[in-house]
Amino acid sequence: MKFQEIINKRHSIREFEKKKVPIPILKRLIKNATEAPSACNRQPWIFYCINNKKKRDEISKLLLGAFKRLWKETEVKNKKIQKIANNFYKDMGGAQNIIFVYRKKSRNEAPHVRPNDMLSIACAIENLMLCSVEKGLGTCWIGTFKGGKIEKELGRILKIKEEELIGSIVIGYPKKGYKPLIRRKKKLNEVLKFI
Ligand SMILES: Cc1cc2nc3c(=O)[nH]c(=O)nc-3n(C[C@H](O)[C@H](O)[C@H](O)COP(=O)(O)O)c2cc1C
Repeated sequence: MKFQEIINKRHSIREFEKKKVPIPILKRLIKNATEAPSACNRQPWIFYCINNKKKRDEISKLLLGAFKRLWKETEVKNKKIQKIANNFYKDMGGAQNIIFVYRKKSRNEAPHVRPNDMLSIACAIENLMLCSVEKGLGTCWIGTFKGGKIEKELGRILKIKEEELIGSIVIGYPKKGYKPLIRRKKKLNEVLKFI
């Protein structure tokens, strides 16, 4: 697949076949994620890849509970998006794998370290999402895991002590016949200024 094609084909996927991603593929994707640039080459990431049905179901339930609480406060009026979200959050769209990317903290960090580490991890996640397209896989970043009660609960399930959650990515084979929601992207002249 040409790189431009991969960029154009990547969309957030919210309906999956109930099929696990083979471990060698997950390893390849995460290896590619770790090839990303990182501030001072700190490589601050640690990937927790859920591949166990019991844990997966526990996490899916946790997510649904958080979604029900948070959705009330979210100002989404679009009925189509509401329907997609309801369907997706019911059971993580059927995805059997989810990857949590945590940040390794170090002692006495200067103020710039944390934001730079977060950006480095976002670079790694983008690598992972783009490489997934080439493998016929779909992904969706789930920001809902971040913050408050849900992040604490997730930490308890994963037995996390020190690290900080940055990104959560569901991954799987898109459901047969599934058509992703194609979001409008801003035009170049809205976001680019040559100086
Ligand atoms: C940091 C981040 C958090 C996101 N959180 C969610 C989420 O909680 N639920 C969801 O359905 N999509 C989530 N998304 C996916 C976005 O909704 C999606 O990327 C955006 O609508 C553009 O669509 P596209 O990915 O298909 O281009 C998130 C994306 C990012 C980068």
